[in-house]
Amino acid sequence: METAPLIDPFAREISYLRVSVTDRCDFRCTYCMAEHMQFLPKRDLLTLEELDRLCSTFIRLGVRKLRVTGGEPLVRRDIMTFFRAMGRHLESGALSELTLTTNGSQLARFAGDLAAVGVRRVNVSLDTLDADRFAAVTRWGRLPQVLEGIRAAKAAGLRVKINTVALKGFNEDELFRLVDWCGAEGHDLTFIEVMPMGEMEEADRLGQYWPLTDLRARLAGRYRLIDLTERTGGPARYVRLQETGQKIGFITPLSHNFCESCNRVRVTCTGELYMCLGQEDRADLRSVLRASDDAAVAAAIRAAISHKPKGHDFDYSRARISGQMSRHMSHTGG
Ligand code: 5AD
Ligand code: SF4
Repeated sequence: METAPLIDPFAREISYLRVSVTDRCDFRCTYCMAEHMQFLPKRDLLTLEELDRLCSTFIRLGVRKLRVTGGEPLVRRDIMTFFRAMGRHLESGALSELTLTTNGSQLARFAGDLAAVGVRRVNVSLDTLDADRFAAVTRWGRLPQVLEGIRAAKAAGLRVKINTVALKGFNEDELFRLVDWCGAEGHDLTFIEVMPMGEMEEADRLGQYWPLTDLRARLAGRYRLIDLTERTGGPARYVRLQETGQKIGFITPLSHNFCESCNRVRVTCTGELYMCLGQEDRADLRSVLRASDDAAVAAAIRAAISHKPKGHDFDYSRARISGQMSRHMSHTGG
């Protein structure tokens, strides 16, 4: 199999793959899912073997960093089999990082196993430290269970990054509490601007939109912010709080400023390869996986990457949100 690196039409080398292993979740966050979700039938999902073949092919083509997402990845049956399979690429050195994004609900159970296969970091979604608010925003989640999961991750030696969706009128007044808690616990913290995903009412989307420029200005009222120039090829920008040394990230998915350094692609749990989160352009890799060998899969990936678009079309600056995507995050993966 040909193993030249994956380079897109804009000379960006694709070294980072995000793969969704399930569309299911044990939470129903209001900005992510409807309360009554119709989930995909099992036959539509890639099997664990297919996920292994697909990710291993990407790794042969130069992917160095793999992030496992969902839905909630840890609710997929037997998911540790897949993590163990990816762990062998860490051992061989082909993969430099294996991570996951999780809601934390199952971390108490899995943290030790994840650390054992070579996972070093986890991103845990947590929008509030208030138990009632947590129950309200996640609908089905319970805060103590997630805090227990986070403790287990830390105890297992995993670095924890907290991802907080900035929601106007919801967690605005917890900004400093979250910063202080992460500082005390030694967790990194990244704020995410809410994205126009799924079938949310337009009024909700606009009503919940708390621009990170405002959040940042409030932080600057209490701390001296030092801009860090390091970029991860993704949408995050970082500052350091001079007084505490904490690093705080900001993800503004609706701005275009990171597209030129984009190094990533996504695979959904049904094996669709999305070249860009903000575009509908995709390639069906499941049918290739089911019909052909790994060389054909590699060729299909290469062909798709040759169409990776320059950037996305989200735009909050207009009165209505244009470029809105009809997919849910749980489909493409968070
Ligand atoms: N806007 C921003 N972030 C979202 N997530 C899910 N839906 C949205 C949205 N509409 C985030 C979760 C989590 C990750 C899986 O994706 O909060 O951090
Ligand atoms: Fe589940 Fe994460 Fe979506 Fe919440 S944001 S419903 S935890 S996938």
